[in-house]
Formats: sequence, C-alpha cells, structure tokens
Amino acid sequence: VIHGQLDKAASFPRPERPAPRRPGRGGSHGSLHLDCARALAAIYVLGTRLGKHFTGITSLRPHRGPGARSALISALIRRLAARRSSATRSQKPHPAPLDARPATSAQVEILDAKTREKLCFLDKVEPHATIAEIKNLFTKTHPQWYPARQSLRLDPKGKSLKDEDVLQKLPVGTTATLYFRDLGAQISWVTVFLTEYAGPLFIYLLFYFRVPFIYGHKYDFTSSRHTVVHLACICHSFHYVKRLLETLFVHRFSHGTMPLRNIFKNCTYYWGFAAWMAYYINHPLYTPPTYGAQQVKLALAIFVICQLGNFSIHMALRDLRPAGSKTRKIPYPTKNPFTWLFLLVSCPNYTYEVGSWIGFAIMTQCLPVALFSLVGFTQMTIWAKGKHRSYLKEFRDYPPLRMPIIPFLL
Ligand SMILES: NC(=O)c1ccc[n+]([C@@H]2O[C@H](COP(=O)([O-])OP(=O)(O)OC[C@H]3O[C@@H](n4cnc5c(N)ncnc54)[C@H](OP(=O)(O)O)[C@@H]3O)[C@@H](O)[C@H]2O)c1
Repeated sequence: VIHGQLDKAASFPRPERPAPRRPGRGGSHGSLHLDCARALAAIYVLGTRLGKHFTGITSLRPHRGPGARSALISALIRRLAARRSSATRSQKPHPAPLDARPATSAQVEILDAKTREKLCFLDKVEPHATIAEIKNLFTKTHPQWYPARQSLRLDPKGKSLKDEDVLQKLPVGTTATLYFRDLGAQISWVTVFLTEYAGPLFIYLLFYFRVPFIYGHKYDFTSSRHTVVHLACICHSFHYVKRLLETLFVHRFSHGTMPLRNIFKNCTYYWGFAAWMAYYINHPLYTPPTYGAQQVKLALAIFVICQLGNFSIHMALRDLRPAGSKTRKIPYPTKNPFTWLFLLVSCPNYTYEVGSWIGFAIMTQCLPVALFSLVGFTQMTIWAKGKHRSYLKEFRDYPPLRMPIIPFLL
C-alpha cells in the first residue's frame, strides 16, 4: 500500500515548470528537489488517506506527536530519493560530461584511431579547453602533426570533433580518450582555389592566342574569324576572373585548409577540361553553332543571368557569416531577385553555376563543354545533397519546400 502511495505521489502533476535537466544526473529521472516538491504537494492532497497508511510504517512510529507530520514528510522524501537513486543505479549510465562533476582539471589520452596505440597523455588539462587547444598541446609532443593535420574523434570511426568543441561539454570521463587520425599534408583553401582557377584562365588563353606547337606552325598567333570564338573567350575568362576575385574578396570559408593531395585531383579536373574545351573552340577548323547569332544571343543571355545569379548567392552567403566567424545559418532570399531561388533550392549558387555552363555549351556547341557541364552538374548535385541533408539535420525549422539543386526535382 505504501509503495502504491509513493508511486501516486511521484506521479502527481508537476506544480511548476520543470528545471532544465542536467546531463549525467540520471537524465530522465529529473532532479531530487523536484521530486520532493511533488511529494510534498501529493501529501497535502492525499491528506488523511495517506496519513492512515503511514501509521503502519514501523520506522515512523516513534515520530507520533507534534513533530510527526514533518518527520513523515522527511521520511517520505528520503524514501523517494532512495527509490530514485536505486532506479538510477540499476541503469548503466553514460559517462557524464566533465562539467557535471566538480573537476578542476582533466586528463586526456590520445590514441591512434587505427592501431589504438597510445600516442600521448595530457595531464592537468583545463576542463574548458577546446579541441583546438588540445590539438596545440598534442603538437608539442608530435610536431610532425600540426593542428590542421589532426582529426580528433570520440570514436575511432566517428566524426571529427570541431575545433571549437569544449572538453567539459563532451560525453567523456575525467580521463578523456580521444582518437587521432592524420589528415595528411594540408594546404590553405585560398591557395587551392587560386591554383585551380588561375590554371584554366591561363590555359584557355594559350589556345585562344594559338601559341606555337598547338595547331601547327601556320596558325601560330593567328586569330579566329568567328565572333563566337572571341565571345566564348571573354565569357570563359570572365568566369574564372570572377571566381578568383570571389575567392579573395567574397567567400568566408570555415575551413582553413584541405589535404594537399586534393589539389592534384582538382587541378587535373579543371585544367584538363579547360585545355580540352579550349582546343576545340579555338581550333582553326571550328564551326560556329547551327542557329548562328540567335543561338549565340540566347546562350549569352543564359550565361550572363546565371553569372549574376551565382555572384548574388555568393554575396548572400557571405552576409550570413560575420567576418572571422564560422557561423552557419539558413540562407533566405533577400531584396535581390536573383536570391529568390533560395525559396526553392538549398544551393542556388550551384544551380546558377550549372546554368552558366549550359549557356556556354549552347553558345559554343562544343561536345567537351557539354561533358564538362554534365560532370560539374553531377559533382555539384552530390555536394548539394550533402549540404541539404546537413541543413535539415541542423535546423528543425528548415523550409520544407526546398530541394538540393533543381527546384521540385532534385
Ligand atoms: N564548375 C564546377 O565544377 C564547380 C564545382 C564546385 C564549385 N563551383 C563554384 O565554386 C563556388 C563555390 O563553391 P563551394 O563548394 O565552396 O560553395 P559553397 O559550399 O556554397 O560555399 C560558398 C561560400 O559560402 C559559405 N557558406 C555556404 N553555406 C553557408 C551557410 N549556410 N552559412 C554561412 N556561410 C555559408 C561557404 O563557407 P564554408 O567554408 O563553411 O563552406 C563558402 O565560403 C560555387 O558556387 C560554384 O560557383 C564550381
């Protein structure tokens, strides 16, 4: 009977809004003082019926008299607390974050994620140290692994922790075990982009000016008689100059570096395609598009609109992130009509980028350009899907109408 009453008391409606739960303290069981408040409220409501049952508790008998009521309440609270703590003990708890304990310093051991070999033991780490600070400490013992090369994880196969993550907020014990992976030699993003984009600009111009050893001696430094060839050169150069300037003055990247090996892959892609496209477009035997000036004008309009759109989206993304920060927000349309595509897709800059290349393909009517558009579209769709997924995961109020790259379709 007593246990039944205790259960009723415990399930009595909460008299006020619950206090925020503290991690690592039994989670769903709530805090002790809340239980007490609920028990007290229950006692007053259950009144004499509850009191009748208390008389049957042997341990409470000595408390009859003027102090009996408060003794009953204390005993009841103690029992509730004991039941709660035994329920909590019976569950296997997750390691509590460090801030749930009065720790003044923590220890961090760093193991190799592949071999589990202990690489480093850091004693007396401040509980509020960030992962970036732990990386700096690790570098002191292993200078070959500078911070940008390091990936630290809670799980050997899990995701990398962010530099700004704080040790005491992580679900680790007083000795935190972190797993290390070497990301390989790193290079700054700006260097990567500049190399990737300066290459196509320069390579295209070599073909446009027909430098020696490309088309045969008699064509050296000759010029095409087709207007579209000159227009194509202007469009291509404009596109890459724009990208270079955006890399330097517009984008606010959140990652400082990327693996060095990526530069070889990316440059092969951009430089290779630029050379292949330029070779055919600037070839002395090149023939202009089937529908002549009309086709070129239409293509130029598509190209210009998409370039403006792409630039507008880059500006909108830049304005989302205060200088020097890594904040990510949901992008919304602004007063600029080119940004209204944000109503329908998550990555309109990719949509406009693909549009520009389709425009360029129509203008030049050149197969390598069409292939470059297709490969770029495939790659950007993969990235757009990834970005779309992370928006959905990160923001619960993410606009449901949006698709990754193509409105209503993809
Ligand atoms: N032709 C091709 O094959 C091809 C392929 C890829 C890209 N591109 C061109 O290169 C451009 C840049 O590519 P990207 O992949 O770097 O584009 P992106 O991921 O959309 O990023 C553009 C810039 O905006 C920032 N950003 C993105 N979403 C943000 C958000 N929600 N809040 C705050 N900042 C945000 C990015 O920072 P983070 O550093 O945090 O990402 C980055 O600095 C593209 O728009 C496209 O024109 C061309």
